[in-house]
Amino acid sequence: MSRLVIVSNRVGIPDGSARAGGLEVAIRPALKKRGGVWFGWSGKVTDGDPEAAATVVKDNVSYVTVDLQKDDYEEFYNGFANRVLWPILHYRLDLAEFTRRDLGGYFRVNEFFASNLEAVLRPDDTIWVHDYHLMPLAKALRERGHKNKIGFFIHIPFPPPEILTALPNHERLIPALGNYDLVGFQTVTDANNFSRYLEDEAGLKRLGTDSFAFEDRVVQVGAFPVGVETEPFAKLARRAVDTPFVRDVFTSLSGRAMIIGVDRLDYSKGIPDRMNAFERFLINYPDWHGNVTYLQITPRSRSDIQEYADIARQVGEAVGRINGTFGEASWTPVRYINKAHSRTALAGLYRASRVGLVTPLRDGMNLVAKEYVAAQDPDDPGVLVLSRFAGAARECTAALLVNPYDHEGVAIAIHRAMSMSLEERRQRHAVNYRALMRNDLSQWAERFLDQLERQPVEMPLRAGARR
Ligand code: F6P
Repeated sequence: MSRLVIVSNRVGIPDGSARAGGLEVAIRPALKKRGGVWFGWSGKVTDGDPEAAATVVKDNVSYVTVDLQKDDYEEFYNGFANRVLWPILHYRLDLAEFTRRDLGGYFRVNEFFASNLEAVLRPDDTIWVHDYHLMPLAKALRERGHKNKIGFFIHIPFPPPEILTALPNHERLIPALGNYDLVGFQTVTDANNFSRYLEDEAGLKRLGTDSFAFEDRVVQVGAFPVGVETEPFAKLARRAVDTPFVRDVFTSLSGRAMIIGVDRLDYSKGIPDRMNAFERFLINYPDWHGNVTYLQITPRSRSDIQEYADIARQVGEAVGRINGTFGEASWTPVRYINKAHSRTALAGLYRASRVGLVTPLRDGMNLVAKEYVAAQDPDDPGVLVLSRFAGAARECTAALLVNPYDHEGVAIAIHRAMSMSLEERRQRHAVNYRALMRNDLSQWAERFLDQLERQPVEMPLRAGARR
């Protein structure tokens, strides 16, 4: 088996910090099992020339990281990746702020990654690149002569060409994904959107259902929905519910039922809409006053970007309004916390919550939804209220699926979840849990890497293939 080299912007160096995005949660078990290298940004920004790449070896994994310079951080990370690609790929054309300077920075950092990565690459390494920060990386490596198998997986949504073509210079960026051998998405819809772009916009010839001719290579496209480590997470939740932290939270509820939401502070997560829906729930169902506490855990993220400061203000105002209007000296309807919590703490809180409220406006997968299901007590489970616009809705079909823009609809779903009979809760949970088991995280990386490694590196173009 060849050595696995993972490349992503964030690198999950195991330093005991509580911060673990979906990408980190997905990659870590695969790397732990197979060993290899994880290459990416150190998280540090330097003023002068960047230092040489730093390496930390832990167990069977080498973590190799590079610093970004100030301009790179501004143009690549804050700029093109998070002010242009992030909103557009989440269907938010209204929030995209394109500049040619940022686009230049994006390509420059991809070249910088490629040149540093080459120093650690061996000819037979399997390279697996992750997420929207690094779309042109395979092209940069191919231009340097690397013939390795290179796969790409995008953790966030991929919109249809009608949206994507509003991205200036999409012709330079999106077809460059053809330099990968395999391009993976969270859902079949995302994969189809990409295939449609390749065929209709980039004029690539379709060779089979999921493969296209690109220059003298073949690029395959597929859906590989990320799962969670279902049984280990269920076990963690069983233990965590008895930790002093979770017991303290539980005691502080004074017998009230808890609704939980856990999201990075990001406009794609739909937190202001969720607050409005919870407010609507309190207005329409006054019997719940004093009987329910909504805990929203929301670590801050990408704080240098204006839209993120705006969303922080909007959520803060909504929480203040709800608590001011409905709260009593003895009851705070919404507890809003910006601190990141450990996986153990979250697992225990999920298990202790009657409702998991996961209502993003758009999300690639959303592992909080899956972890909430995994954490429940099957004899007395809570209910997942889930946005139909999260990838997880394809698998957790027995959740109460909602349209997050329809606040009244979400309020009705919260009421339904809170009032649901034990029998219906058990049935719905069993269906969702089975779906999680069918697509456990342990199979995700294997499925992707099997397909990538089976794929021939080069194939002659069939006659008449268009470029
Ligand atoms: O996939 C979404 C993602 O960009 C991941 O790369 C990352 O784990 C998470 O969001 C957090 O974002 P950031 O690295 O910008 O803090």
